[in-house]
Amino acid sequence: MQYTNLNKEMLENEFQAIKKEYDHIKARGLKLDMSRGKPSAEQVSLSDGMLTVLEGKDCVVNGIDYRNYGIVEGIPEARKLFCDLMGCENDEIIVCGNSSLNIMYDTIMRAIVLGVEEGSTPWCKLDKVKFICPVPGYDRHFRICEKLGIEMINVDMTPDGPDMDAVERLVSEDESIKGIWCIPKYSNPSGVTYSDETVRRFARLRPKAKDFRIFWDNSYCIHDLYDEGDTLLNLLDECKKAGNDDLAYIFASTSKVSYPGAGVAIVISSKKNIARAKDQIFTQTIGHDKINMLRHVKFFKDVDGVMAQMKKQADIMRPKFELVLSALEREFSENKILEWTNPKGGYFISVNLLDGCAKRAVQLCAEAGVKLTDAGATFPYGIDPRDRNIRIAPTYPTLDELRGATEVFCLCVKLATLEKLLSK
Ligand SMILES: Cc1ncc(COP(=O)(O)O)c(C=O)c1O
Repeated sequence: MQYTNLNKEMLENEFQAIKKEYDHIKARGLKLDMSRGKPSAEQVSLSDGMLTVLEGKDCVVNGIDYRNYGIVEGIPEARKLFCDLMGCENDEIIVCGNSSLNIMYDTIMRAIVLGVEEGSTPWCKLDKVKFICPVPGYDRHFRICEKLGIEMINVDMTPDGPDMDAVERLVSEDESIKGIWCIPKYSNPSGVTYSDETVRRFARLRPKAKDFRIFWDNSYCIHDLYDEGDTLLNLLDECKKAGNDDLAYIFASTSKVSYPGAGVAIVISSKKNIARAKDQIFTQTIGHDKINMLRHVKFFKDVDGVMAQMKKQADIMRPKFELVLSALEREFSENKILEWTNPKGGYFISVNLLDGCAKRAVQLCAEAGVKLTDAGATFPYGIDPRDRNIRIAPTYPTLDELRGATEVFCLCVKLATLEKLLSK
């Protein structure tokens, strides 16, 4: 059945039938949550060996006591591990604390207060600062901009990454555009990985603002669900080839490798950018948590150790993604009132309903006991101009909970759509 082809009477009959099913499910008093992109308890337990991997004597390495102050750029062993993993050099990285979002926020705050490079005007002294925000995107990126008074400009995502014609035009014309948010691999929420051409176009940008920077949040860089994962070009290398060494800050963390909130986060950039950031961070802290860095190195050992862990993570997550995707396929492959992404990694499935239906579907889900990410959250200021996008986060619930939540979700999509079609 394709709802958009039905006449009023048929729509009304279908509405009554779906409403009856919905009321029935609502009476069950469910309490399910598909809202946050968190790993499940089973996933975080994979790292519990890390809690006992260190003894006091292990913390003295080459005569340096990691239990004490110092080493603001992070311990050499951790820098080596992340350089190997991310493809950068020792002086192009700082290993920081437990959150990459925290580093992104600090990087922007430093640009606001101190300026991006020697001699550039701190953003706080400018009338206007704008960021390009590929949409749909990550709500917390947008929140940083909103709270710090940075104006946001939406640019659409395509299956290859952000619409690069729009990005190139905007940055070349407007000097108040100082940054762009990017989640280049398994993007939150669309699951898109930027094509090689997109990465090269980013590296070759010639922004009007000399202090424009790409904020390359590579949170899901190794988060493949299948052996055959997407591949992403190394932006740092491409920037060097394009003679644009200082253009990008790259961020990542082990939040979804080991423990969210107790992992290790990194920032990578040109030697010049990293030296400046290191100097500024040194004013802020004498050093990050070196014991946690060492725990990670001891536990994972090397890149192979990290990748083996990611395979275990994928084995837990894959059935959950497949459960949701097969339900969407079953319910909406013919009744084309919903489009969805089919990611090969990351943490999310992004769906588009018919225009004007997302908020209502989320509300109907909530009333039936299924919590979803707020409609609009994937857009700056919480405003989805077409009110159609919803982010599904399948990782946290158990398979049984997810089955129940997905059933409710599909029903609510139908109900919200029928209401909309009947109101015309
Ligand atoms: C795109 C993206 N960046 C950053 C984060 C948060 O990372 P961290 O835990 O390192 O602060 C998340 C968490 O969901 C995310 O989806």
